[in-house]
Amino acid sequence: MAIQDRNKLIKLLGPSCSAEEIKAVERVLRSGWWGLGPVTEAFEQAFAKFVGVHHAVALNSCTAALHLSLKAVIAKVGRKGSVIVPALTFISSAAAALYEGCEVVFADVDERTFCLDPADVRRKITRDTIAIIPMHYAGVLSGVDNGKSHITIIEDCAHAAGTPGAGKTGKLSAWSFHAVKNIATGDGGMVTTDDHKAAEFIRRLRWMGIDRSTYQRSKKGKYDWEYDISQLGYKYHSNDIMSAIALVQLRRLKELNSKRRAIAERYNKAFRDLPIKLPPESGSWHLYVIRVDKRYRNRLIDFLRKRNISSSVHYKPLYYFPMFGWNIKEKGKSLPKTEKIWREIVSLPIFPDLTQAEQRRVITAIKDFFYNI
Ligand SMILES: Cc1ncc(COP(=O)(O)O)c(C=O)c1O
Repeated sequence: MAIQDRNKLIKLLGPSCSAEEIKAVERVLRSGWWGLGPVTEAFEQAFAKFVGVHHAVALNSCTAALHLSLKAVIAKVGRKGSVIVPALTFISSAAAALYEGCEVVFADVDERTFCLDPADVRRKITRDTIAIIPMHYAGVLSGVDNGKSHITIIEDCAHAAGTPGAGKTGKLSAWSFHAVKNIATGDGGMVTTDDHKAAEFIRRLRWMGIDRSTYQRSKKGKYDWEYDISQLGYKYHSNDIMSAIALVQLRRLKELNSKRRAIAERYNKAFRDLPIKLPPESGSWHLYVIRVDKRYRNRLIDFLRKRNISSSVHYKPLYYFPMFGWNIKEKGKSLPKTEKIWREIVSLPIFPDLTQAEQRRVITAIKDFFYNI
């Protein structure tokens, strides 16, 4: 390793760009069609096939995908209600519920997988519940089902591109192509579903409720300027620049995820004899999250920071954020596993372009930390 690299900041997560992504973007830029158009249609078809469902609707984020999925559920059941989500996750699933005036109900997570605990979900289902949004934490498949009830499952697949079975339990599934996800396009999202009506509903609402996209109105070589709007929509659609990158990333996904897996396996081997709980097997290795004694967690993060190594906590439970107005001392007791786990977790650098030299630096730093406490 060059001397100047020994102290270079090691990122936590990051995208991988080959010449193919650059060529694909260049083709779109030169084509003159940058907006929602033929490349996005091609990506939707390829992604639906990849997941094994009939419909894929490309959006500008997973947040938009969760929001419009929940709107589709509300349209179907004809009422708002409560939505069950994990607290050990990113804000978007709870935000989708709040955007729609639904109540957010947090359920606890499974101690091993960090995904929603099916038993606690069952305890928290009431007559008011309209949806459950499990999240495949770090790409580990969440085992939640709705106990054969009418309640709709919306899968949050933000971490799970490449995890076998992801997108196959829920009526609707929301995917992220944010800059550090397994398929990364800068920003981007997708809803996948077998429900034709829901797909059409989301397709219309993604671009301001307009019934036919500009591309659809230009398809026959003539431009048809007229369109209709029967319902208020959102500015949530994707575009062909993002989709060009996405198509290449989807083609590379196996290769990219196998690099992540190799990194995870090297960590697992190196940490075997340390006082660290290793993560469970993941299908996508979106994150690599270890558990350490809560007394050392913050010290370990500081120690790594001093060596210019990024690490993080996925996640501080959502109810700690003041917007939820929770009395944590009192209500936190209802989520004992979330309360315990979040104090012990540390996410370590994992992304396809992490070099072996960088990973050795991370491993050495962690060993140094534990040999010196
Ligand atoms: C679990 C989870 N859900 C949803 C999202 C939101 O994704 P996006 O940034 O595409 O809206 C993220 C993003 O980090 C996430 O980690």
